[in-house]
Amino acid sequence: MNLLDIVNRTAMPEPWSEGDNIPWNDPEFSERMLKEHLTQDHDAASRRFEKIDRHVAWIHQHVLSGQPTNILDLGCGPGLYASRLAKLGHVCTGIDYSPASIAYARAQAQQAGLRCTYVHQDLRLAEYGNGYGMAMFIFGEMNVFKPDHVKLILQKAHDALAPGGTLVLEPHTYAVVEAQGKSGNSWFADPAGLFSACPYVGMEENVWDAERRVATTRYYIVDAQTAEVTRYAQSIQAYTDDEYRALVTECGFEAVAFHPSLCGEPDESQRSFFAITARRT
Ligand SMILES: C[S@@+](CC[C@H](N)C(=O)[O-])C[C@H]1O[C@@H](n2cnc3c(N)ncnc32)[C@H](O)[C@@H]1O
Repeated sequence: MNLLDIVNRTAMPEPWSEGDNIPWNDPEFSERMLKEHLTQDHDAASRRFEKIDRHVAWIHQHVLSGQPTNILDLGCGPGLYASRLAKLGHVCTGIDYSPASIAYARAQAQQAGLRCTYVHQDLRLAEYGNGYGMAMFIFGEMNVFKPDHVKLILQKAHDALAPGGTLVLEPHTYAVVEAQGKSGNSWFADPAGLFSACPYVGMEENVWDAERRVATTRYYIVDAQTAEVTRYAQSIQAYTDDEYRALVTECGFEAVAFHPSLCGEPDESQRSFFAITARRT
């Protein structure tokens, strides 16, 4: 792509038509993203460890009543939740398609002797196994998938759980997805950053498809030396609370309960998300 392609872009792209997601699964991008997961400077790719510790404590004590079980972590990233849950006695399987994150998670588990297995695979294609006491899909990632793909993943999670097993979701609120879609455009420049190891100018554009209730973010990354443009796009589906409840129920779950956050109580610093628990019928 070049700069003229940006000028001539479609004003309102069809959701997901220009890309599924930012390139988590690209080897070099995933190495750069791993640093973002692990930094304690922000809560962007993964939360800071202090917050993850609080989430893990709530999951262990409130959701699992302190009873060790087999846990499936969908989109586990570098295993920051799975490794902590394993230290509390759970046996964890994490699935993620980021090569650097999975390599890091495996190395950490091996070094600490944790009962964690990490699978490098796309959630839409992976075999999840079965007999889990809990499956988790957190940090708003479910909204990034097309609704059909979310259903597929939740149905696979349902089938992977033992009867009575618990699903833990942490989706985006409707309001935050809409606000993202309406947040307008911005630009940034970096001598080396997440999108490239070479100097680049990045342009972020957000659009809100009010009819489909989808926010699409486009990133145009302009190489500072060649002016070559690379586009990444990500769409996020907004769901009302009733739609979340219907989706989870449709995928075979019951006892659907909403919680203000993954700490179980309101958390001002994580207002973009809330938590849902449900049980396999
Ligand atoms: C925001 S990060 C959260 C990581 C982890 N759950 C955490 O909270 O630390 C989202 C994760 O989902 C993964 N992911 C996104 N789409 C995926 C897909 N189709 N298949 C597997 N993993 C995916 C990314 O690679 C990334 O590690």
